[in-house]
Amino acid sequence: MNIIVVKNAEQGAKEAFALFEKAHQNGAKVFGLATGGTPVSLYGLIRESALSFEDCVSINLDEYVGLSKDNAHSYDAYMREHLFNAKPFKQSFLPDGLASEETEVARYERVLQENPIDFQLLGLGTNAHIGFNEPGTPFTQRTHKVALTQATITANKRYFEKEEDVPRYAYSMGLQSIMDAKEIVLMAYGEKKANAIFDMIEGPVTEDVPASILQTHGNVTVIIDEAAAALLSSENQ
Ligand code: F6R
Repeated sequence: MNIIVVKNAEQGAKEAFALFEKAHQNGAKVFGLATGGTPVSLYGLIRESALSFEDCVSINLDEYVGLSKDNAHSYDAYMREHLFNAKPFKQSFLPDGLASEETEVARYERVLQENPIDFQLLGLGTNAHIGFNEPGTPFTQRTHKVALTQATITANKRYFEKEEDVPRYAYSMGLQSIMDAKEIVLMAYGEKKANAIFDMIEGPVTEDVPASILQTHGNVTVIIDEAAAALLSSENQ
């Protein structure tokens, strides 16, 4: 893993933008995208840039089950607000939160097979999830329906009026689907991510720590701030 430690999230967004731009210049056409708080500043830089995605495809990691794309809390709405309204892609795929599990899992895997991801962006859960692949998810898992853990519901309730409103299930690309990407960039900021970052980078590769699978991928860059890097041994800081 290539590890870049920055002062703060703003610097991290600049580093991530440089990698995004380089991949785009080198001909990447399929971008795997994440939602959540972490990539917001990166999407801001992309919106302000001259990059065009009109001949590119985007594939998002996940979507809440039960939310329509018009629901303000859906990841579809998030993506339109933070990126797609300003920078449309030729085609953008997100799981359909209203579709049945059987239909959606098959459709999304077809999308991934027809559009192999060149550049995958990831955030990191406080429990080291990537996408919504919670601890215990098999490394061989492909797109699936996930029951969110209490840790994830607690972390995500800030986006909803109250905790009861947070959906209990999501559709997510699996760990194997993520590992198929040619290049992966993971960003994580803040003290609350420090344990997950330590386990991901310096702990054993285990299904108890979903992100630890990234140790076995040949092209991963991890962009973290000093607070998230705090528990790493000195050679990784
Ligand atoms: C979002 C996603 C999640 C988030 C993670 C971190 O599409 O797949 O894995 O990246 O939960 O969320 P934030 O960035 O809000 O801390």
